[in-house]
Amino acid sequence: MPAQSTLVEMARNRIREWQAEGTNHYQSEQRPWVTLAFAQSLDGCLTFKRGHPSALSSDAALRLTHALRAEHQAILVGVGTVLADNPRLTVRLVPGQHPQPLVLDTHLRIPLESHILHHPTTAPWIFTATKAPANRRNALEALGARIVPLVDEPGDPIPLPLMLRYLWENGIHSLMVEGGAKVLTAFIEAHLLDAAIITLAPIWIGGYHYINKLLVSPERKAPGLSLWQWEMWDQDLILWGRPRIYRI
Ligand SMILES: NC(=O)c1ccc[n+]([C@@H]2O[C@H](COP(=O)([O-])OP(=O)(O)OC[C@H]3O[C@@H](n4cnc5c(N)ncnc54)[C@H](OP(=O)(O)O)[C@@H]3O)[C@@H](O)[C@H]2O)c1
Repeated sequence: MPAQSTLVEMARNRIREWQAEGTNHYQSEQRPWVTLAFAQSLDGCLTFKRGHPSALSSDAALRLTHALRAEHQAILVGVGTVLADNPRLTVRLVPGQHPQPLVLDTHLRIPLESHILHHPTTAPWIFTATKAPANRRNALEALGARIVPLVDEPGDPIPLPLMLRYLWENGIHSLMVEGGAKVLTAFIEAHLLDAAIITLAPIWIGGYHYINKLLVSPERKAPGLSLWQWEMWDQDLILWGRPRIYRI
């Protein structure tokens, strides 16, 4: 197995090359490059327990996550992940810049003490509803968050193509989507992905809650993946795929 530092460099180079190869495709759509990156168990669970923190993978795979973060301009999670994991979404384990943190949160449920609201370099952009509570909006703006209403009613899903167009128009040309289950499923069902990097942790969790898994509706005809690379990082198997219809 190659040394950790070699694997990190290989991973960074590979995602850079993929982004460069995909430039024409996503530029014509006026949206950022989209990488889905997440960890799951052998039985497809993203977390041990509904709404609880998710650290399934090894420290080595965590370094991969940080390397991938460093190669994207922005990183997106749903509010469910903020509530469960309170992630920092920064780059700490490898050299590189922090991506712009983004959250989908139509009720503005994000806690004011969340790490991402106290980010070392930039405040998050929060995609929300026009009718989200005004007092929450004011409190979040006072902490520097950029509030971007894209739907009217709290509870309506943020339309992903509209959000991606907003990102493109605001200078974000590469996006990593890190979770959680609902947000990743929404991207897959909308066929909005250019790459998927999946950490397969060699464990069975036995979770059966929808929220723990990516349960894509059969009607959506989700794209399959062409697997381009796989490698071991410590005990985890890392799968690198591109959606089949975009095969190079
Ligand atoms: N294994 C991994 O790699 C990994 C990574 C990240 C997270 N996780 C785990 O995933 C779990 C959280 O996942 P989750 O499914 O509960 O929450 P989530 O996907 O993080 O967030 C979902 C929420 O985002 C909001 N949202 C707004 N627009 C949306 C859209 N178009 N599509 C989907 N969601 C939209 C909705 O809340 P509103 O209606 O309030 O707007 C929705 O309930 C946690 O347990 C966490 O530990 C695992």
